[in-house]
Amino acid sequence: MKIYSPSSVLAQAGHFIDHVTGAITPPIHPSTTFARNDDYELIGAYNYSRYQNPTYDQVEYLAAKLDNGSEAKLFASGMAAITAVFETINMGQHIVAPTIMYHGAQDWLRRISEKRNIGLSLFNATDSDSLRRAIKPGKTAIVWIETPVNPTWDVIDIEDAAGVAHAAGAILGVDCTVSTPITTRALDFGADIVFHLASKYLNGHSDVTAGILVTRTNNERWEDIKFIRKHVGGVLGPFESWLLLRGMRTLSIRFERSSENALRIAQHFENHPKVEDMLYPGLESHPGHKIAKRQMTKGFGGMLSLLVKGGAFEAKKLATELRLFVSATSLGGVESLVEHRASVEGPMSRVPTNLLRLSVGIEDVEDLISDLERGLEGI
Ligand SMILES: Cc1ncc(COP(=O)(O)O)c(C=O)c1O
Repeated sequence: MKIYSPSSVLAQAGHFIDHVTGAITPPIHPSTTFARNDDYELIGAYNYSRYQNPTYDQVEYLAAKLDNGSEAKLFASGMAAITAVFETINMGQHIVAPTIMYHGAQDWLRRISEKRNIGLSLFNATDSDSLRRAIKPGKTAIVWIETPVNPTWDVIDIEDAAGVAHAAGAILGVDCTVSTPITTRALDFGADIVFHLASKYLNGHSDVTAGILVTRTNNERWEDIKFIRKHVGGVLGPFESWLLLRGMRTLSIRFERSSENALRIAQHFENHPKVEDMLYPGLESHPGHKIAKRQMTKGFGGMLSLLVKGGAFEAKKLATELRLFVSATSLGGVESLVEHRASVEGPMSRVPTNLLRLSVGIEDVEDLISDLERGLEGI
């Protein structure tokens, strides 16, 4: 059978055709329960929607295909998915993660480390030896990385991290929210589990909260993750699953447009007199550009950060001067957003106070550039 590219598979929702009705749009199955026949056997493959539902199946099938994985599971949020992964760790084991990463996930790692005698070592994503120093062979169970790292967009070499993790007997989990499977298939680079915060690029319309895990192999840990989802109950509702599926159908075109827009903006403002630095892996000047080129094969994504000359005051002033960029947290939607990350993360944040994070959407790039130019003039 011909293997189609991700954009073709997505556009047709996994070549969906309902063979009973001929419908080309996948249906929603809101039923929470599923009937049995006269022999008291379940009529179909489903029993109760906390366990599984045909609408989740459609999204999970597509997500697994997209990442070249063997199976995918949907969760009610990104954190529901991430915490399910870390719930598989036993007392006395050890986790390695980057110093700068999604702060909510790091807060959770600190919590389980304190409460359950689980070791936690943080490594510097800009230094490849730092990961090697952090790992404890035989003790580290999971190396968790994000690439590019939010919000500095440092790039971690997935293949290298997988090699280090596997040599120590650990698995590698990759948060690929920013680097979607359109451009990076982390499992192909040796990752064992991939996580997508599906609320972001996969859905793309800032109207669904969801997380997805995809596994390379269906092993004991994966069975445990499925058990955790079933028993903790962090499942997505059928309506949200269906909306997500609808969003995913246009992922490739949205991601490509956001990537093109972000690259134009990064290049345009790289040497602006009021910009101290522009952090974007698509720029040749970015320290991670070479690795990004190897593992981000179809665009560098829509996320970039701008270090404003001055400090927190100037950065926040710019955020409020912008008219087309909406001042709000989150990323990966069709609309462009701007965020003063240090304020959002709070006093524990390690993010530079003059950093503004931009999530570049699919608007006309000339409009986005002139909004930023006008904003910079105003500070
Ligand atoms: C990169 C990344 N991973 C994970 C999460 C957590 O996802 P959620 O907010 O759906 O729990 C976030 C939240 O913004 C994120 O940005």
